This record gives sequence, C-alpha cells and structure tokens, in this order.
Amino acid sequence: MARRRKVYEGKAKILFEGPEPGTLVQYFKDDATAFNNEKKGVITGKGVLNNRISEYIMLRLNEVGIPTHFVRRLNMREQLIREVEIIPVELIVRNIAAGSMTKRLGIPEGTALPRSIVEFCYKSDELGDPLVTEEHITAFGWATPPEIDDMMALGLRINDVLFGLFAGVGIRLVDFKIEFGRLYNEEEVRTVLADEISPDSCRLWDSGSNEKLDKDRFRQDMSGVAEAYQEVARRLGILPEGGPRDMKGPAVMQ
Ligand code: TMP
Ligand code: ASP
Repeated sequence: MARRRKVYEGKAKILFEGPEPGTLVQYFKDDATAFNNEKKGVITGKGVLNNRISEYIMLRLNEVGIPTHFVRRLNMREQLIREVEIIPVELIVRNIAAGSMTKRLGIPEGTALPRSIVEFCYKSDELGDPLVTEEHITAFGWATPPEIDDMMALGLRINDVLFGLFAGVGIRLVDFKIEFGRLYNEEEVRTVLADEISPDSCRLWDSGSNEKLDKDRFRQDMSGVAEAYQEVARRLGILPEGGPRDMKGPAVMQ
C-alpha cells in the first residue's frame, strides 16, 4: 500500500495528508510525554482509547453547535479532520485547583475555584508552553482580539458541556487544555476547536474517591495508567466489549 505523506508529527499524534484537499488524517500514538518531553513512555492502547474518547467528545460538542475540526473516525487509531491553521496558543480552563496553578499560586490541590478560570499559554516546546496574557497574544500577532474572544467563549461553552457530561458518569472535570485552528472557507475564516480532548489533555477525578483518571497517573509514576483511560471510555459507554461495533450509550452513575 502506498504510504501517505506525513504532514506533521507531534508527541502523541501524527498528521497525514487526507483523501481530499482540505482534509488530514489524525493518527493517535501510544507515546506519552510529560514535563515538556523530559519524561517519555508508552501507554499501551492509549492511542485507540484517545481516538474514541476524542471522537465521542467532538461529536457531543458538534451536537450543541460548537465548531470543531472533526469529520469522522476512520479506524481504531485514525480520524479524518479538516485542515486548519493552528493558532499557537493553548487555552486552559480550570474548575478545581491542580497542576501548575497549585504551584504558581500556592493553592492546595482540590480547592474549588470561585469560578471557572481561563488561562492562555504560548505553544512552544522550547519554552515549555509559558503562561501568557492577551497583551502578549495580540502584540506578537499570535491571534487577533476577535479570535481571543472566540477562544474564550468557546472554551467556557466547552467547559459547561464537558463538566455536565463527565458529572453524569461520576467524573469531576478538574481542568483541560484545548487548541483552536483557523478554518479557511472561501472568503471566510472561522475559529474551530482542533487537536484532541482526552485524558491526555484533561484532569479527570472520580467524583466519589477523587482517584485520578488521566495523564497525571503517568506524570506522577502511578500504576494503572492505561486502566484509568479505559475506565473513562467505559463510563462514557464507548469501550468496545464485543469488538469495535459494540457501541453503547453512556453508563449513568447513581
Ligand atoms: P497544568 O496544570 O500543568 O498547567 O495543566 C493544565 C491542564 O492542561 C491539564 O489538564 C493538563 C493539560 N496540559 C496539556 O494538555 N498539555 C500540556 O502541555 C500541559 C502543560 C498541560
Ligand atoms: N507538558 C505535557 C504534559 O505534561 C507533555 C510534554 O510537554 O511533554 O502533558
């Protein structure tokens, strides 16, 4: 079979040329990194699970009118996406203090925040994705003021949808990171959700026990990393039990 042209390779995914102009194929690897590539490893089966979890989340977001790059899942590890120009800014939405916020501001992990807090980071591996303000983003031309407004508004809507979706299956959405792209369509440019949403890019805690069900298990050398990703898929009702066609609805927790 002719090899497709690789367009980009990141730490957890590869982008290949798509079947039609304006499309790409997003391939999910099992590779995991943390602390800006300092820690490297493989989480067996992660790519398959993240492909499904991200598909599920993007479909739910599309249903409520949030524009995304997602077209459809192609197979166990690949999905078809629209080609976008990635905005070099990551948006983090936090509901509960964890990770870098606890270190930067000295807030104990697990503290409920007075309201959801949005942060921007500049996408740069060399610099370790530093926290930046809107001033930096507009002054350096990374995004325009209307694009910042779009990202903030979409980020908060996505938080509302995902917070409820995960709460329904007994999971607290602590925080998450998302990326946006510019979708060029004839005369028009739209800001759409890109990349992925998965346990790699979210903090997800069991609502009862606060057990971590996300990449923090890998970052913190805890056991059961792959099992945690599987548990998230299982609760969302998307873990294939009788093969890939065995798709069930969400398992609602009491
Ligand atoms: P942080 O607390 O380390 O800043 O992370 C906030 C959220 O963003 C957390 O859900 C993990 C996610 N994240 C990424 O997806 N990629 C990254 O490079 C970093 C630093 C965080
Ligand atoms: N910083 C990312 C994380 O911890 C991964 C990496 O940069 O290598 O999620």
